[in-house]
Parts: sequence; C-alpha cells; structure tokens
Amino acid sequence: MEPIGSFVRLALIAVFSLAISGVAATEENTGFEEFSGYSDAPAFSVVPRQDELAFYPCSQCHEFMEPDASVRELMSPHEIDLKHGQGRFWCFSCHQLDDRDQLVATNGRQVSFNDAHLVCGGCHGLRHKDWYFGAHGKRQTDWKGERVIYSCTNCHDAHNPVIAPRKPMQAPGVRTGLERALPDVHDRVEVWERHTEDEPSEQGDHE
Ligand code: HEC
Ligand code: HEC
Ligand code: HEC
Ligand code: HEC
Repeated sequence: MEPIGSFVRLALIAVFSLAISGVAATEENTGFEEFSGYSDAPAFSVVPRQDELAFYPCSQCHEFMEPDASVRELMSPHEIDLKHGQGRFWCFSCHQLDDRDQLVATNGRQVSFNDAHLVCGGCHGLRHKDWYFGAHGKRQTDWKGERVIYSCTNCHDAHNPVIAPRKPMQAPGVRTGLERALPDVHDRVEVWERHTEDEPSEQGDHE
C-alpha cells in the first residue's frame, strides 16, 4: 500500500511541477528539474526578507532541539495559528525539517527566506507567473531603471495570507478658509426618482 501511495503522490507532484515550470522532470535526487524562471520575463531582483525576521537565525535555538514534525498546538515562542491551506498542510510544507534556517519548495528544493516566492510559486503557479511579469505585486522604486520587486511575504503573511479588508481612509480635510461644496446626501434625488412615468426621458420615447 505505502509504496504505491507515495508513488501516486510523487507522480502528482511531478505533473504539478511540470505545469509550473513548463519543463520535463529529470531523474535527479528530487526527481524534478529546477524551476528556472521565465526567460521572457524582464530581469529583476527581490527585496530581501531574511533580516526582517525576528527569529532568524532559527538555528540559534533549533540547533539544540530535536525536530518534532507532529501536528500540534504550538507553545511559546511561536503561537502560530496557521490559517493557510485549510488544515491540509503543516509547517514542513514550507520549512525545512532538519535545517530550520531554510525553506523548502514543493519540488524538494531548499530555498532561502529571501527567495520565499519559490515556495509560494509551487502552489500558486499562475499568481507567481503574474508576479514575474509585473502583473501582481509591486516594484520598490523606479518604473524604468533596475527592476527591484517585493517578495510575496512582504505583503502576505505566509501563515495567514489573506489580506484583511480595511476601512477606506477618511476624505482629506478642507483647507482653512474654504467651504466644502458637497451636496447634502439627505436631499439627494436618486437617479430613478428623477424620471417619472409622465416625464419623457432625455432620450425621448422609442415607440
Ligand atoms: C528563541 C528560540 C527559537 C527560535 C529563534 C526559533 N524557534 Fe522554532 N521553536 C522553538 C521552540 C521552543 C519550539 C517548540 C514549541 C512547542 O513544541 O510548542 C519551536 C518549534 C518550532 C516548529 C515546530 C516543529 C518543531 O520542530 O518543534 C517550527 C516549524 C519552528 N519552530 C520553526 C522555526 C523557524 C522557521 C525559526 C526561524 C525563523 C524558528 N523556529 C526560530 C524555539 C525557537
Ligand atoms: C505556506 C508556507 C508556510 C507554512 C505552512 C509555514 N510557514 Fe513559517 N514561514 C514561511 C515563510 C515564507 C516565512 C518567511 C516570512 C517573511 O518573509 O516574512 C515564514 C516565517 C516563519 C517564522 C519566522 C517569523 C519571524 O518573523 O521571525 C517562524 C518562527 C515560522 N515561520 C514558523 C512556522 C511554524 C511553526 C509553522 C507551522 C505551524 C509554519 N511556520 C508554517 C512559510 C510557511
Ligand atoms: C503547499 C501548497 C501551498 C504553498 C506552498 C503556498 N500556498 Fe497559499 N494557498 C494554498 C491553498 C491550498 C490555499 C487555499 C486554501 C486557503 O484559503 O487557505 C491557499 C491560499 C492562499 C491565499 C488566499 C487565496 C484566496 O483565494 O483566499 C493567499 C493570498 C496565498 N495562499 C498566498 C501564499 C503565499 C504568499 C505563499 C508563500 C509564502 C503561499 N501561499 C504558499 C496552498 C499553498
Ligand atoms: C505588493 C504587495 C503584494 C505582493 C508582493 C504580492 N501580493 Fe498577492 N496580493 C496582494 C493584494 C493586495 C491582493 C488582493 C487581496 C485580496 O483580494 O484579498 C493579493 C492577492 C493574492 C492572491 C489571491 C487572494 C484572493 O483573495 O483572491 C494570491 C493567491 C496571492 N496574492 C499570492 C501571491 C504570491 C504567490 C505572491 C508572490 C509571487 C504575491 N501574492 C505577491 C498583494 C501582494
């Protein structure tokens, strides 16, 4: 049972990574060819993330701990409530079990925290492609010069990636000495109330 189950899983992953990279799988260790980007996408570098992490280097603690892959409620220092994948994956879908300073992509490739987009792209292939070409995400500066773009995790929390809705900001204040000339919303006549049955519309009747 077990070898067949894992074979089917591997085959599925192979089909998946094929769809993402558009290249055929090889017989290397992982069994998959590296994803090497889209050659027709404009060149870019990614704003690094590693130095932004409060817990990095992870090995400062994990070096002295036995890795524990069991799914459980985590205690201090990471009380993470994983709201990603609807219970279908755990920390080690993205974090390397035996080298906590590294991430891991769906094809088994080791990835640094600065290249987290390669982890995201393993499951969000189309969004990842959009990001390569500039249709998703954001450039740090310059629309024209060197292309430096934000990583996925600059905007999305990897553990709870949906961006929360927020209230729109208040309209800016009026400069002193000026009157705000907005119509009183309570006196407003709705567009459908403006045209009554006996009043022909501006276009006239089409009879
Ligand atoms: C200050 C010490 C400390 C640092 C730094 C730290 N961890 Fe941990 N980590 C812990 C402790 C303690 C646990 C066990 C928590 C529990 O069992 O409830 C843990 C558990 C985990 C687990 C759950 C699996 C396991 O092996 O127990 C993951 C995944 C994890 N840490 C990832 C990271 C990552 C990624 C970093 C770096 C970005 C990091 N940790 C940095 C202390 C630390
Ligand atoms: C979907 C992939 C994914 C999963 C699942 C995931 N992580 Fe992460 N985690 C990341 C990425 C990517 C980062 C780097 C975030 C960044 O750049 O801000 C990260 C960052 C961290 C950090 C460092 C946070 C900091 O600011 O120092 C810790 C600790 C951590 N993860 C622990 C865990 C634990 C524990 C679990 C399981 C409960 C888990 N992660 C599940 C992808 C994931
Ligand atoms: C192992 C596969 C996997 C990886 C790796 C992964 N995701 Fe996801 N992601 C999912 C699945 C499955 C869902 C849909 C279930 C859910 O809403 O949690 C999802 C949901 C999301 C959503 C919300 C989409 C929606 O329609 O509500 C965002 C945003 C997102 N992921 C961003 C990321 C980012 C950023 C990363 C990299 C740090 C990442 N994901 C890595 C599988 C993955
Ligand atoms: C500059 C910020 C930014 C960057 C960088 C970014 N995203 Fe997003 N992403 C957003 C915003 C804003 C939305 C729309 C939020 C929403 O509708 O919930 C979004 C939406 C998404 C969604 C769909 C969520 C939904 O609800 O439909 C996914 C999946 C996603 N992003 C994944 C990624 C991945 C993967 C990367 C990196 C390759 C990435 N994003 C990079 C800001 C960003």
